[in-house]
Amino acid sequence: MHYKQLKPFPKDFLWGASTSAYQVEGAFDEDGKGLSIQDLHTPPQGITDFKVASDHYHKMKEDVQLMADLGLKAYRFSISWSRVLPNGEGQINPKGIQFYNDLLNELLAHGIEPIVTMYHFDLPLELYKKGGWTSRSTVQAFEEYAKILFENYGDRVRYWLTINEQNCMIIHPNAMNPGKVPSQKELYQQNHHMFLASAKAVTLCHEMYPESKIGPAPNITAIYAEKCDPSDVIAAEDWENIRCWLYLDMAVHGRYNSFVWSYLKEKGWTPVIEEGDMELLKNAKADFIGVNYYATATVAASKNDGTDRQARSGDQQIMVGEEGVYRAAINPYLEKTEFGWLVDSIGLRVTLRRIYDRYHLPLLITENGLGAYDELSDDGHVHDQYRIDYLERHFHQAQLAMADGVDLIGYCPWAFIDLVSTHQGYKKRYGFVYVDRDEEDLKELKRIKKDSYFWYKYFIKQ
Ligand code: BG6
Repeated sequence: MHYKQLKPFPKDFLWGASTSAYQVEGAFDEDGKGLSIQDLHTPPQGITDFKVASDHYHKMKEDVQLMADLGLKAYRFSISWSRVLPNGEGQINPKGIQFYNDLLNELLAHGIEPIVTMYHFDLPLELYKKGGWTSRSTVQAFEEYAKILFENYGDRVRYWLTINEQNCMIIHPNAMNPGKVPSQKELYQQNHHMFLASAKAVTLCHEMYPESKIGPAPNITAIYAEKCDPSDVIAAEDWENIRCWLYLDMAVHGRYNSFVWSYLKEKGWTPVIEEGDMELLKNAKADFIGVNYYATATVAASKNDGTDRQARSGDQQIMVGEEGVYRAAINPYLEKTEFGWLVDSIGLRVTLRRIYDRYHLPLLITENGLGAYDELSDDGHVHDQYRIDYLERHFHQAQLAMADGVDLIGYCPWAFIDLVSTHQGYKKRYGFVYVDRDEEDLKELKRIKKDSYFWYKYFIKQ
């Protein structure tokens, strides 16, 4: 639908930006931090690991000053579980507690609302060695960790996110399970344990800080059918249920999505559910939904002939399609980034509407952005007009979604500052702030404001 005139974004809209601990902090083994599974990551030649990243741990004050100068209203970051609890449980690391205390105080002193993710892909290594999410004891460890976070930071954090992209950890499990890729049956058991862990955190938060808001941060995307062939439409619905609604139906309603439950039964992948689990899940309802959105996906009916599963855009780490369920299709209407990711700004509007229609909870965009090969020009600047165009188009679609009735409370593009991509190193940059380092040469890690930084500053001000 077209509107004659769009309402401006509300004054209290949370214009922010995002990062995650292991991708930005560095200091991977300093000041008592324990290792996480991400510290085991041994990338191929020519791609950096996460040891130094953007050195935010040492440059935190400078980085917050840059956020303040930009005019950010909110900053979404994650806490490194193994910085706070080096073994994932037991002994607390006071210097880890201190770092996030300092960060929170610095943000609040500059009027920036902290939006805190409790766990963003960096499971403590010691817990992993004991079975990680396959073991039910990790649920207990997460509850203990959550309690420590609420006790130490609950007085200053109004927005909590439990687990980042739980759905991606199940769909693309390699990086989260170093040394061994679990079976699907084991993955859905991990998934059930993560549901329980989130529910415990939500329950605790509601008990300890009833005024605060807590929710999940899955990667949600509308799934399009390739054609109006009803078989494609069913495949698209099935994949949307498996990829998206399984996670949000649980977070919002505390129940397994009925189609996905049938799918799990058919495949023999149903998790072990113990007495009391479903009651815990039912009583731990999210207050808002964090949405990580990059692009939609388009699917066709499965051929079920052994060819449904393929690498996405040649990236062997991201396999798409599932035998007997769906196959990936090409969407001829969409462009791709330099890294082969689809760009679909209208898809953001579609996705927000679908989520809001289903759940009627406030939505907060916790990630969305463009990964590109940014270059420092001879004039000392980074001219990332392509990122400005990308964000401008997505912001406009968010505004349209709000006009359509979606209760959107904030937008945190990925990322505030350049950081290490999950598996494509430092050359894939997302930030408003350029960090002068490359894959192997750390140089001085100097911060340089990109053109998009000035554009975003002006946009927020307006
Ligand atoms: C999201 C993750 O899926 O996508 C981030 O939450 C990640 O951690 C972002 O960095 C972009 O993906 P990538 O692979 O380009 O780093």
